[in-house]
Amino acid sequence: TRPLKVALLGCGVVGSEVARIMTTHADDLTARIGAPVELAGIAVRRPDRVRAGIPAELITTDAKELVKRDDIDVVVEVIGGIEPARTLITTAFEHGASVVSANKALVAADGAALHAAAEANGADLYYEAAVAGAIPLVRPLRESLAGDKVNRVLGIVNGTTNFILDKMDSTGAGYSEALDEATALGYAEADPTADVEGFDAAAKAAILAGIAFHTRVTIDDVHREGLTEVTASDIASAKRMGCTVKLLAICERAADGASVTARVHPAMIPLTHPLASVREAYNAVFVESEAAGQLMFYGPGAGGSPTASAVLGDLVAVCRNKLAGTTGPGESAYTQLPVGPMGDV
Ligand code: HSE
Repeated sequence: TRPLKVALLGCGVVGSEVARIMTTHADDLTARIGAPVELAGIAVRRPDRVRAGIPAELITTDAKELVKRDDIDVVVEVIGGIEPARTLITTAFEHGASVVSANKALVAADGAALHAAAEANGADLYYEAAVAGAIPLVRPLRESLAGDKVNRVLGIVNGTTNFILDKMDSTGAGYSEALDEATALGYAEADPTADVEGFDAAAKAAILAGIAFHTRVTIDDVHREGLTEVTASDIASAKRMGCTVKLLAICERAADGASVTARVHPAMIPLTHPLASVREAYNAVFVESEAAGQLMFYGPGAGGSPTASAVLGDLVAVCRNKLAGTTGPGESAYTQLPVGPMGDV
């Protein structure tokens, strides 16, 4: 069987792990997929910053040209942000490639249009890595629970803020001291705004709500409050009440089924609740559905190799679809008309 060719856009913390695992696990991936899978090009902005061990002959700074190559079967996008990612993904679809993306900001802003572009070109768009790193959530909601009715998705979907709140709770540190430690350990980015102001969690909430409730939710629909106002004394008061503070994403279907809501804000959690024991940069998400009841998904929600694990799972799925000459179920299989206006939050 001919090898499937993969173009990698971005070779930072996640991308370099994807490249590494594709090389070291090549035989396993071939067995899982039923054909060899080959890295055919890696687009980066700064070639001088590419990590050791990445094949230099695959590196290019011309992502636009790479996604236009007609021999590329799958484009893996791990650069993040809206542009140029959106244009590159759309171009990849137009040239017949399927796309695996870890880009929560883009999917949360423009998922519907991207799905439409994929479907119009007979391509796949998979993005398990966009929500909660390694934790399988997108495909469980789309596929495993497709015959059930999900009423609520609730949990901790941002590792950086959970690390900060956990530090504040366990050491009595203030917000900025805890943020400094998160930055020093590489959890928080140099500009931590997306995490601490709740934008990252809101993007993930939008994606989860859309998939869980078969509707379209964008990041603008999500009520958002970050944790920059949480003080050491708030945490101390919560403690006195037998609680801790967590930044929660809460997506709910209204009881009458006429609307859905999604919100992100700090919340007091009783220490007896399983979410209270989610430490450091871990994520945990509860899914409540009619037939299954309550499910809990827990694991590393960020970081190079956990996120690469989710990317590679999608890569295997997309490659299998390619070989079978099919695509996975597109958004139209899951998205009904919006169930109603977003309710008040
Ligand atoms: N900044 C994100 C987090 C990375 O801390 O959870 C994973 O999306």
